[in-house]
Amino acid sequence: MSYRIEFRDVKLAFGEKVVLDGISFGVRPGQMTVILGQSGSGKSTTLRLLLGLLKPDAGQIYINGEEISHMKEDDLNRVRQRMSIVFQEGALFDSLTVYENIAYRPRELGWPEAKVDERVQEVLDFAGLKDVADLLPGSLSGGTQRLVAIARAIVDDPEILLFDEPTVGLDPPTARMICETAVKLRDLENTTSMFVTHRLADVRFLASHYAVRDENNNVTIHDESNDLCLINTSFIMINDGKVVFQGTDEMLWQAEDSFLRDFVRGDEDLNT
Ligand SMILES: Nc1ncnc2c1ncn2[C@@H]1O[C@H](COP(=O)(O)OP(=O)(O)OP(=O)(O)O)[C@@H](O)[C@H]1O
Ligand SMILES: [Mg+2]
Repeated sequence: MSYRIEFRDVKLAFGEKVVLDGISFGVRPGQMTVILGQSGSGKSTTLRLLLGLLKPDAGQIYINGEEISHMKEDDLNRVRQRMSIVFQEGALFDSLTVYENIAYRPRELGWPEAKVDERVQEVLDFAGLKDVADLLPGSLSGGTQRLVAIARAIVDDPEILLFDEPTVGLDPPTARMICETAVKLRDLENTTSMFVTHRLADVRFLASHYAVRDENNNVTIHDESNDLCLINTSFIMINDGKVVFQGTDEMLWQAEDSFLRDFVRGDEDLNT
């Protein structure tokens, strides 16, 4: 069984405070794994470990089969180049247009301008941002700014994309737009991703919708409804430093664990 991302018995404490007390999970290539857990349970910490920004106290972290926690900085940078992260705060450059924000990284990497333009156009189209390409981020809604942040994260075609609560604070239709983009990356680009969220509505959407591209290159999003379930999303929940659940949404809805039951029964408003 080969994983693109694997944590084996990873432990991390900040001083006296044990945040991760031996967590293990695997994410297969092209799969989306949604990370659930209360505030302070270690979700962002897990993503930072994956980026090599933190080192675990014990355990191993594998990316494409390579253990990263003992890697030299040069090797780690090579692995990091294949990953991108989308934060809640888009962290866009305010004085650059949407186009220039997205072109920033490819230009920094020294791509020829024709290739930069071709790829930026492709990504603008993918994220539905063509109409705002020449605007400054400050003139856009919060949701559109997050789409720009996603566009910027995917421009150099990362193998692994990390989302740290990309829907927090957004109204439901805008949050849905972000989830649709994540689903398109999963189903059309085969991106491996980890998606941190508190929102039950995100969980439902990511577990039940899939993207299709037709022969005219039009992309549509469908609800699996009664179709055969082939949706490539799995879920993990972290509680008290442990992975208390890993599995499909069907398993999540049926889980016995009281903590999980509270979450899946939770009042929608409490989870936004
Ligand atoms: N650099 C740090 N130094 C000390 N404590 C830290 C540090 N980073 C995180 N923590 C603590 O580790 C715990 C886990 O933090 P983390 O940010 O991973 O939680 P989270 O699950 O992402 O929460 P949220 O849903 O609020 O974003 C928290 O108690 C936090 O205060
Ligand atoms: Mg966090």
